[in-house]
Amino acid sequence: MTDVADWWTTRIIDMEPGKIQLRGHSIESLIEQNDFVATLWLMTQGQNPTQAQRTLLSAALVAAVDHGPQAPSIAAARMASTCGVGLNNAMATGINMLGDVHGGAGQQTLTLYQQILTRDEPLETAVSQVIKNYPSKYIPGFGHRFHKPEDPRAKPLMDLVRAHSDEAEIDGRYVAVAETVQQQLSANRPVGIAMNIDGATAVIYGALGVSPELARGYFCLSRSVGILAHAWEQTQQGGRNKGPTPPGYRWTYSEDE
Ligand SMILES: CC(C)(COP(=O)(O)OP(=O)(O)OC[C@H]1O[C@@H](n2cnc3c(N)ncnc32)[C@H](O)[C@@H]1OP(=O)(O)O)[C@@H](O)C(=O)NCCC(=O)NCCS
Repeated sequence: MTDVADWWTTRIIDMEPGKIQLRGHSIESLIEQNDFVATLWLMTQGQNPTQAQRTLLSAALVAAVDHGPQAPSIAAARMASTCGVGLNNAMATGINMLGDVHGGAGQQTLTLYQQILTRDEPLETAVSQVIKNYPSKYIPGFGHRFHKPEDPRAKPLMDLVRAHSDEAEIDGRYVAVAETVQQQLSANRPVGIAMNIDGATAVIYGALGVSPELARGYFCLSRSVGILAHAWEQTQQGGRNKGPTPPGYRWTYSEDE
């Protein structure tokens, strides 16, 4: 029977009738001792977080929960809520909108920071080389259509990483990397280019040693809170078949497109 049992192999959960153990901790003890953020870290990283890890992860999750109904993921969840589907379907609709361009830039940003840190040269030089050779003129994690010149979420997140930088499990180097990228992008411009939510949370995930792919998963979890809140609010408000604009507006018809 081992070929059947071994079909799924996991270090995450052990279960028997009357027993549930997550990463070696009984569910009873986790219910008593862990909050949700600590449990998220335990489940995805294999052990309970230190206080510093819990604080930083929690801050990154809080910072990214919502960015209003103009964010495609939130708008889509609200529209779905007026279509007669359940709350879970509305949430999935919103979460499925998160990708490389919307919501997912943190993964690319963390990869960029890591490329900078692996270069064997002074930080200023490493940053300018990586920016110069980046395949897009837009450096992920920087710039914002709405928040100029500063995204209000960036500074408190940077301050928090700085405050915990002396602790063994926190890699404080990412703060300087992000700030140097921002300085170089903003140099000689009348208005600076903001470090956006992805730029700032990538510093946290880098400081925590989280892989770029998993950082996107954490972002999706965080934004799920906003998606759920908006989907639920829209459900309570009612509305049927709400499209992206009030029905009095029409799209542009063009035969040239
Ligand atoms: C978010 C974004 C689409 C906004 O772009 P935008 O509306 O063109 O931004 P602005 O109009 O304020 O740009 C002003 C100037 O800064 C430049 N700029 C903006 N973001 C930049 C970035 N990330 N890297 C380099 N230059 C950037 C623009 O090219 C523009 O330069 P110009 O004046 O020489 O033409 C853009 O910043 C971007 O793609 N950022 C990277 C992806 C990302 O982090 N997404 C998550 C957003 S929360």
